[in-house]
Amino acid sequence: MDFAAELAKLLAAAEAALTAEEYQALFETPPEREMGDYALPCFKLARTMRKAPPMIASALKEALEQAGIPAWLSRVECVGGYLNFFLDRANFAKTTLAMIEADGDDYGKTDIGHGRVVCLDYSSINIAKPFHIGHLSTTVIGNSLYHIYNFLGYKSVGINHLGDWGTQFGKLIVAYHMWGDEERIEKEGVRALLEIYVRFHDEAEKNDALNDEARAWFLKIEQGDEEALRLFNWFREITIREVERVYDLLNVHFDSYAGESFYNDKMDRVIDELTEKNLLVESQGAKVVNLDEDNMPPCMILKADGATLYATRDIAAALYRKDTYDFAKCLYVVAYQQNLHFAQWFRVIEKMGYEWHKDLEHVAFGMVSLTDGTLSTRHGKVVFLEEVLAMAIEKAAEIMRQKNPELENLDEIAKQVGVGAVVFNTLFNSRIKDITFSYDRALNFEGETGPYVQYTHARICSVLRKAENVAAAEYDFDSICDEESQRLLATLARFRDVVINAADENEPYLIVRYAVEVAQNFNRFYYEHRILTENVGETAARLAITRACRIVLSNALHLIGIAAPERM
Ligand code: ARG
Repeated sequence: MDFAAELAKLLAAAEAALTAEEYQALFETPPEREMGDYALPCFKLARTMRKAPPMIASALKEALEQAGIPAWLSRVECVGGYLNFFLDRANFAKTTLAMIEADGDDYGKTDIGHGRVVCLDYSSINIAKPFHIGHLSTTVIGNSLYHIYNFLGYKSVGINHLGDWGTQFGKLIVAYHMWGDEERIEKEGVRALLEIYVRFHDEAEKNDALNDEARAWFLKIEQGDEEALRLFNWFREITIREVERVYDLLNVHFDSYAGESFYNDKMDRVIDELTEKNLLVESQGAKVVNLDEDNMPPCMILKADGATLYATRDIAAALYRKDTYDFAKCLYVVAYQQNLHFAQWFRVIEKMGYEWHKDLEHVAFGMVSLTDGTLSTRHGKVVFLEEVLAMAIEKAAEIMRQKNPELENLDEIAKQVGVGAVVFNTLFNSRIKDITFSYDRALNFEGETGPYVQYTHARICSVLRKAENVAAAEYDFDSICDEESQRLLATLARFRDVVINAADENEPYLIVRYAVEVAQNFNRFYYEHRILTENVGETAARLAITRACRIVLSNALHLIGIAAPERM
């Protein structure tokens, strides 16, 4: 039962100044539960009802009383210009637990997606470049949204739009021919490739002929030259093999690795269509779509030498995705540095007359840095994501060896906790904020962190293990009318709305903050009340809350993309 909606209906029936929806939109949650469960700020009605707010409050109260106050509402109070509503606590506990128990492990899921497809373009790493800490946000935000949309009945399609095209591959081939060592590259992977790439840049600064050579090799890749393609595919393989290790650690998956090169043979369509629709203009030999009227620089489609660009490939990819998946939404989880790029080519799609341009969304996010991190690839000073995760795992293992040395599978759980700490920390704030990463902050078991939430989940599992032999009994709802139980129940009741909101705004942090709130409210409940007591009805009711809490926490952790260990 949706109490706010029911309450709004009662109000609308008693006083038709507003519709039920309008009433409901006005409801506020009072800061203290002693002030009620919902509050209606009556000054917002002063204009329509032409009365002072306190008068409105008492008139509404009277109208409600005349219509009859239902049993689930224990009290209605006028305080100043507010009308405060108090739910009957035992009934609230009963309804909330029944709702969660009815859905069980699926609690929080809905089917608002009706199987419609959401394409998610995330992580989208670059071949032969390190998978560095700068890719952390796109990878974990994308992965979380992937789970969130599936949870809401959409069909998520995860796409790793590999950066596997561009002159840098010509450079790499030249560098490989000069200094490459096949065995070493097989063994050390991207690091070894990066080393010769950096060396190429240093040498090319002194010797421009190398750049010509690189361009020639890139052309050979484009023309399908055997040796060129062999090396190109090998670089690709080595990179993917390496990043998959990190994806495995993060438990991140993709349905497609169709990257930029995949669209090579799909570019003509873009050029033809743009030409047909009269959208292409010449500009210093290049072909562009003019965006003057949108106050944006033109979107470059073809260079003077006929080469396509990053934007051309994104346009081709969008057309392909629409044809292939018929998406309801196509999201691009990419740093805000690319705001202009996305605004430009989204507008090009609109100018092409595609109504679905409105279903494209750039889900932008801020920068991640380590306390002293620099991220430039050109000079080789990079923080590899794999190293960050390894360090976090090691630190987690250290903490756990102190806290719980007897723990079985300590290494496995340290992995879940270390990785979880990094992911949780990355998702903790609204995406657009820049983050400075600190191991100590992320791994603080007492802070608002992944380990704290995971630990609470493990604690709940341990309580439930201890209660395995407690015989089932009827719940004594009166024993869970206290502040802590009620506050926890109210939080659990909000879960579905939180997930829907997170999807509406493409903001996983809403679930992260919510998970912290659930954990904090559980811990307050747990410190104030014994769960297993001599009173069977009380024990049964508190265990029911504990079970409900486990479901919500484990689902929330799943949506965030981290493990929910049962022991820690
Ligand atoms: N590979 C690009 C980069 O690292 C990100 C690609 C994002 N996705 C896209 N469809 N443009 O900057």
